[in-house]
Amino acid sequence: MAKVTNRKDYRPYPFEVEQCQLRFEIQARHVIVSSRLWFRQNPKYSGRYRPADCILDGTGLEILSIRLNDREQEEGQGYRYDGRKLELTGTAEMQNFYFCAKVRIDPYNNKSLEGMYRSGDILCTQNEATGFRNITFYPDRPDVMSRFTTEIIADQKQYPRLLSNGNLLEKKDLGDGRHSVRWEDPFPKPAYLYALVAGDLDLLSDHFITCSGREVTLHIYTDKGKTSQARFAMESLKKAMLWDEKLFGREYDLDLYMIVAVDSFNFGAMENKGLNIFNSSLVFATDETATDATYENIASVIAHEYFHNWTGNRITCRDWFQLTLKEGLTVYRDERFSEDHFGSEVCRIQQVSNLRNMQYPEDAGPNRHPIRPDSFIDINNFYTQTVYEKGAAVIRMMAFHLGSEGFRKGMDRYFERFDGQAVTCDDFVDAIQEGGGKDLSLLRRWYEQAGTPQLYADSKWDGTKFSLKLRQENPNAAAPSPHTEKTGTSASRESSRPIPPPLAFPIPLALYDHNGTKLHEETIMFSERETERHYTLNSQSKPVPSLLLDHISPVEVHYPYSDEELLLLISADQDSFNRYEAMQRYQQKLLLAMNPEQTTEPADNFVERLRSWLTAQCAAGGDAAMPPRYLAQLLQVPGVQILAAAQQPPQFQALHQVREAYCTKLAGHLEEDMLSCYHALAQTSYERSDLAIGKRSLRNTLLHYLSRLQHNRNNGGKYDELASQQYQTSDNMTDSYAALQALTHYSPGPHSQAAEGALAHFSRRWQGDFSVLCRWFALQAGTPKPQTLQKIQELENHPLFRQENPNMLRSLYSVLSRNLPIFHDKSGAAYQFLAQRILQIDRFNSMTAAGLAKAFVAYKQLDEEGQTAMAKALQLILQQDGISDRLYEITSKTLEQ
Ligand code: BES
Ligand code: ZN
Repeated sequence: MAKVTNRKDYRPYPFEVEQCQLRFEIQARHVIVSSRLWFRQNPKYSGRYRPADCILDGTGLEILSIRLNDREQEEGQGYRYDGRKLELTGTAEMQNFYFCAKVRIDPYNNKSLEGMYRSGDILCTQNEATGFRNITFYPDRPDVMSRFTTEIIADQKQYPRLLSNGNLLEKKDLGDGRHSVRWEDPFPKPAYLYALVAGDLDLLSDHFITCSGREVTLHIYTDKGKTSQARFAMESLKKAMLWDEKLFGREYDLDLYMIVAVDSFNFGAMENKGLNIFNSSLVFATDETATDATYENIASVIAHEYFHNWTGNRITCRDWFQLTLKEGLTVYRDERFSEDHFGSEVCRIQQVSNLRNMQYPEDAGPNRHPIRPDSFIDINNFYTQTVYEKGAAVIRMMAFHLGSEGFRKGMDRYFERFDGQAVTCDDFVDAIQEGGGKDLSLLRRWYEQAGTPQLYADSKWDGTKFSLKLRQENPNAAAPSPHTEKTGTSASRESSRPIPPPLAFPIPLALYDHNGTKLHEETIMFSERETERHYTLNSQSKPVPSLLLDHISPVEVHYPYSDEELLLLISADQDSFNRYEAMQRYQQKLLLAMNPEQTTEPADNFVERLRSWLTAQCAAGGDAAMPPRYLAQLLQVPGVQILAAAQQPPQFQALHQVREAYCTKLAGHLEEDMLSCYHALAQTSYERSDLAIGKRSLRNTLLHYLSRLQHNRNNGGKYDELASQQYQTSDNMTDSYAALQALTHYSPGPHSQAAEGALAHFSRRWQGDFSVLCRWFALQAGTPKPQTLQKIQELENHPLFRQENPNMLRSLYSVLSRNLPIFHDKSGAAYQFLAQRILQIDRFNSMTAAGLAKAFVAYKQLDEEGQTAMAKALQLILQQDGISDRLYEITSKTLEQ
C-alpha cells in the first residue's frame, strides 16, 4: 500500500550519527558492505518528544550480521527487519551506542540505477533522494548529517580506480591481485551525497587556484580513450569555480574535485560531495559530436552541480519537502552563470520558453504542486519543473526586489548563518530578507500555492489619463492530494475550488508612444492582499504598455493588444524579452484564429518587418546590429504546446497543420531574402564564438523555413538539395543535425531518398558514439509524421538500441510524448503504446517509468474522445499488479485528479 508523507508531520530524527565508517569489498558477483555507526541521542529530539527506538532504512538488504555495542544481535531479539526498516530494540534508552552491520548487495544486476549499480564495467552509486538505503542500513534522510570514511577493496586489474568523497588517505597493494583505498570526507553530509565509483577509467587532470591561493586538483574520469572529449567540461568547471567566487564569494572547500562520466544514469548529473557523477551525454563534446545547444547544456549542468557544493551540500535540506531550497536556488545560480557566459537576452528567452512549454503544463496538470509540496508518496516524483524552474523564478523575483547588492548580502547572510546545517525554505527567506534589508514576507506565499497566476490587464485612455487595470486569477492554486487506495474507481475529486489568496509579484512595465518612443518605466508591485490593482498616469497620447519586462515573475499576462500595438512593440520594445514576446503574441493571435481549412496571411507590415531584419543581416554577413542568434529566436513560431494551452479543448493535429501552413506561408513571402541570407551566413571555418553560434542558429532556422517550401511547390527538390548539401559538407554537429531534421521533418509522405540516405549515413557514421546515437533515435521519434509510431516500433528492434538505458528509452518514449500531433493521435494508439512500454520499464527501472508517465499530463484538458482513449491507457497501467508506488502515484493522480 502506498504511504503518504506529509510536510506537516516533520520530526527531527531521535539520534545523531557522529561518524560513519564504510567498508566495501567488491567481489565478482556481489559486494559486501560493512558499516560502523556511532549514534547518540539528538538533543533537538529528546528535548521535545518521547524517546523512541532507533529505526534505520534499508531496502532489500541481505543481512550477514548486526552488532550493537560490539555484541552480535539476533533477528527478533536485538533487531527486527521487514525488508525496509531495521528496528533496534532497546535503543530508546541509550544515551549513545555503536552499531555495526554487514550486508551483501548485488550491484551487478541492479537495473534500477539507484543505490549501487553497474554502468558498463564501472560500479557507481546514485543515492539522491533515497538510494543509500539500498546499499546499507542508515537513517536515510537529509537532516542526519555525518562524517563518512570509506574503505574499498577490489581487484586491481578490473577496478584500478577506486573513488569516494573527500580526500584520499591511503592506497595499498594487498598482494593477491587486490588493492584497497581509504577516503575521508571531512565535511558532515547526509547519505544522499555519498558516492563510490570503481572501474578502469581514464583520467583528465587539471587544477584551479582559488581566490585564497589554494590549489584544487580537478579530475574528470571517463571510459577508456574518451578524456579528450571531456576538455570542454573541464574548462566549464573552471569557469564555474571562478564565477562562484566572483559573484557569490564562494570558494571550493576540498583539495580535490572529481567528476565521473557514466552511460547508465537516470538523470543528468549528481552533486555528490567532491565526486560528481554525470550522465556521459553531459560530459563529452567535440565539434563533430556536440551541437551548440549541447555545449551550453554541458556548461550549465557542470556549473549547476558545482554550485551545489554551497547551495545543497554545505547547506542542505532539512527534509525533502524543502527540495527547492537547493534545487530552485541552484538553478537560479546556473541560469545567471549561463546568462553571463552566453548572453542574457538569448538565455532569458530560452528559460521562459522552457518554463512555458514544460512548467506551465505541469502546474495546470494532475501533478501540480507548490514549489514546496505538502505531501508525496515518493519524493522522486517531485524533482519537477515546478521545484526547479518555478523555484528559480521565485528566487529571481526576490533578487529583483532586493536588487543585486541586496540579494548578494542576503546570500552572504544565508551562508554565514546556516553553513553545515540542514534547513528549510523559511530559513532561507529569513536570511535573505535580513541580509537584503527588505521585507520578503509578501513573497512567501509562492512557496504554498500551486498554479500559474493569470494576470488580466486592460487599459483606458481618456485623452489625458492612461489607466491600467490589473487583475490576478489562479484557477490551479490547489494541488490534488495523493491517493493511497489502489483502486481503479475514479470518483471524480473535482471539488469546488475556493478562491485562493492573491500572490505578490513585481510587474515592471514600460509605456511607448505611437512612434515607439519610451514614455515611462516603473515597477508596480502586487501586494499579497490584493487581487486587483489600478494604476493611472497622465499621458497626452494613448500609450502602448510593455508589461512584465524580462518576464520577471512566473505569471502569464493577458492584454487585449491590437495588431498595430504588437507591431509597434515588435519594432520598438527596448526590453529584448518583450520584443520577442510581442512576436509570440502577434503570431499566436494569428494562429489561433486559423483552422486547417482556412488559413490567413500575416499582415504585410509584419512580413516587411521580418524582411528588413533579414536584409540587414544579409548585408552584414550575419553581423548586423541585431545579433543573429536573437533574430533566430524572434523568428521562432509559438510551438504546438503553447498554442494548445490557449485552446480548449486543444486540437493538436489541427494546430500542427495550421502552424506548418503558417511557416510555409512566411517562407513563401520571404523566400528570396531567406535564401540570400542563408548563403550570406555561411562560414568558412568552424568557430565557437557567440557570433559564429548565432550565425549557425539563424542559418538553420532559415533552412527549416525554406525546407517547408519544398513540398508546396514544384521547385525540383531545390531545398532537399540545399539541406543535403549542408549535411554532406558540414564539419560540425549543429549544422549536420539541423540539416538532417530539415530533410526528415517537413515532407508530408515517407522520407525522400535524400533523407533516407542521410539517416542511414548518420547511424553508420556514429554507431560508436552513444550520445549521438541517442540523438539519431530522438530525431526519428520526434518527426511529426503519421508513420512515426510505427517507425519507433522498428527502432526498438534496431541492433544499436539499448533497451535498458534511460537515455535510449527517453530518446524514443519521452520524445514521442512531446511530439504532440503524433502522441495525441485520435486512435489513442500512441497512448496505448506508451502505457505498455511504461509497464515494461517499471519492472526494472521505476524511476524512468514514473518519469515517462508524466506524459499523460494533458488528460483533463482533452476532448471527450481524447479523454476516453487516454483513460484506457491509464487504466491499463493501474490495473497491472505490482506496479511501483511511484508509477502508481503519478498515474492515479492523473486519472483521478
Ligand atoms: N540533485 C540533482 C540530481 C537528481 C535529480 C537526483 C533527480 C535525484 C533525482 C542534480 O543536481 C540535478 O538537479 N540535476 C539535473 C540537471 C540540472 C542542471 C537541473 C538533472 O539531473 O536533470
Ligand atoms: Zn540540482
